[in-house]
Amino acid sequence: MSAPSTEFLYLSQEDVVAAGGTDMAAMIEVMARAFAVKAAGQVFMPPKVMITWSDGPGTEERDGRIMAMPAYVGGEFDVAGLKWIPSVPDNPERHGLPRANALVLLSDRETGLPLAIMDGTVVSAMRTGAVTGLAVRHLAVPGARSACLLGAGVLAHTQLEALRIAMPELAEVRVYDPRAGRCAAFCEQRSAATGLGVRPAATAAEAVRGAEVVVPATMAVDPTFAPEWLAEGATVVLVSSLDGPVELHAVTDLLVVDDWTHESTHEGRYAQRLVDAGVLAAAGPGVAELCDVVTGRHPGRASASDLVVVSPVGLALDDVTAAKHVLDRAREANLGTTLRLRSGPPVWE
Ligand SMILES: NC(=O)c1ccc[n+]([C@@H]2O[C@H](COP(=O)([O-])OP(=O)(O)OC[C@H]3O[C@@H](n4cnc5c(N)ncnc54)[C@H](O)[C@@H]3O)[C@@H](O)[C@H]2O)c1
Repeated sequence: MSAPSTEFLYLSQEDVVAAGGTDMAAMIEVMARAFAVKAAGQVFMPPKVMITWSDGPGTEERDGRIMAMPAYVGGEFDVAGLKWIPSVPDNPERHGLPRANALVLLSDRETGLPLAIMDGTVVSAMRTGAVTGLAVRHLAVPGARSACLLGAGVLAHTQLEALRIAMPELAEVRVYDPRAGRCAAFCEQRSAATGLGVRPAATAAEAVRGAEVVVPATMAVDPTFAPEWLAEGATVVLVSSLDGPVELHAVTDLLVVDDWTHESTHEGRYAQRLVDAGVLAAAGPGVAELCDVVTGRHPGRASASDLVVVSPVGLALDDVTAAKHVLDRAREANLGTTLRLRSGPPVWE
């Protein structure tokens, strides 16, 4: 019996992009399929493992961290993987580098051999946008035309792209970031590229008021908006969790999390802070998981005036399925560099 090939594919960031890694419409469909597999109970996803440089609330946002996120995703994906993602908050200003620089490793479930190692920075930013797109498609008031972004960093790019697809009538986007230069450049570039009215706001309140969809993706360690600024029927997607004030829950009609266990065990995340503050008991009425909304097991928004809050803590499920999608496209297009785990027979077998 001949041993299986030990070759695997290395995909650089350019390869990931060439393989369609920045195609947001496709990525939203991948996330829809991924959450359907989760709803079918075919995902094994232990808690994230994190290296931090200090303790206490806000350490991730203030001091950075390295996170390891593994998952096996069954069903049509049938693949295991791991995202290794260091976050260095002052990378953009000090080094002109993205805050987060990630790698994704995919492994064959049957043999355990590596299938691919690829840039995870694009995969991670894209899947985060795509999960927002999926949530907004299911939960925002139909026909919504206005959105607000808090934060004008890397994630703002993929959030806006996802909103454009999930909100076909989107016309107006207001953006607030205390780094006014970064905010202005983002708005100018995105307006020109999309034809939407993407405008900087002087304050967070100005950005949030009247917006039908509000997406904070900031590095803030304290809440960035007040519940009373939110319009009736708004949908809030807490891409960065510390932005959400605990008081928000008192006026929330539906809270949707991507995974209750991950959300409530990840230090400082929104639902965990609600539980710690005693305003949320556990996953009960008023809390739904995104996979149930996507598959119709939960009805989602009950009325056009409801305030819906989505807290996607971010799952290895998202990364592994997004990376598998990229790997499949890369194989079809013959992209990437073939690497070998070993060239001869195994050392001991
Ligand atoms: N939920 C998920 O799945 C997921 C995935 C990836 C990243 N994230 C989170 O998204 C956030 C943004 O990531 P990024 O890569 O874009 O970071 P980034 O450093 O590129 O950009 C963050 C921006 O937030 C701005 N900011 C800081 N305080 C602010 C405030 N009070 N109001 C408005 N803007 C403020 C900063 O000036 C900066 O421009 C991070 O907190 C990250 O952890 C979440």
